[in-house]
Amino acid sequence: MIFIDGLHLANQIEIDINNSLEFLKDDGYIVMHDCNPSTEWHAGETYSYKLSPAKDKWNGTTWKAFVKARQRSDISSCCVDTDWGVGVISKKKIFGESTKVKNPYFEFSVLNENREDTLNLVTFEEFKRILHENK
Ligand SMILES: C[S@@+](CC[C@H](N)C(=O)[O-])C[C@H]1O[C@@H](n2cnc3c(N)ncnc32)[C@H](O)[C@@H]1O
Repeated sequence: MIFIDGLHLANQIEIDINNSLEFLKDDGYIVMHDCNPSTEWHAGETYSYKLSPAKDKWNGTTWKAFVKARQRSDISSCCVDTDWGVGVISKKKIFGESTKVKNPYFEFSVLNENREDTLNLVTFEEFKRILHENK
């Protein structure tokens, strides 16, 4: 299992995902923090904007890198709807289909209107059930 929770900017996270996939075993998992930002303030590019209503909570643009990974058909992914959204990526386990939501410019408003489909949001109970299916 590889945990990604470093710099919360999409371009770095995309690098982290691709590097992780290089080393991940077929039955391994990438787990990512901060994939489901609750507001646009949490999803800002700038951590140091302390007057933000999100205060010191910062998910950054992690969600964009996760959604880009969710568009791929060679890996499967879901986002456990807990904490700030815990993304899980697998090479082998099928969590569901890749996202078909069209959001070519990665607009937060489009994410906000289509969270379930875009992120493949699942509860922790659903996630445990999927993990134990077809072992
Ligand atoms: C949100 S914190 C989370 C740290 C840890 N996962 C935890 O839960 O305590 C992010 C950490 O990643 C570090 N970081 C920032 N940019 C990084 C990068 N490009 N690669 C790896 N780590 C980075 C930061 O210094 C910070 O310590």
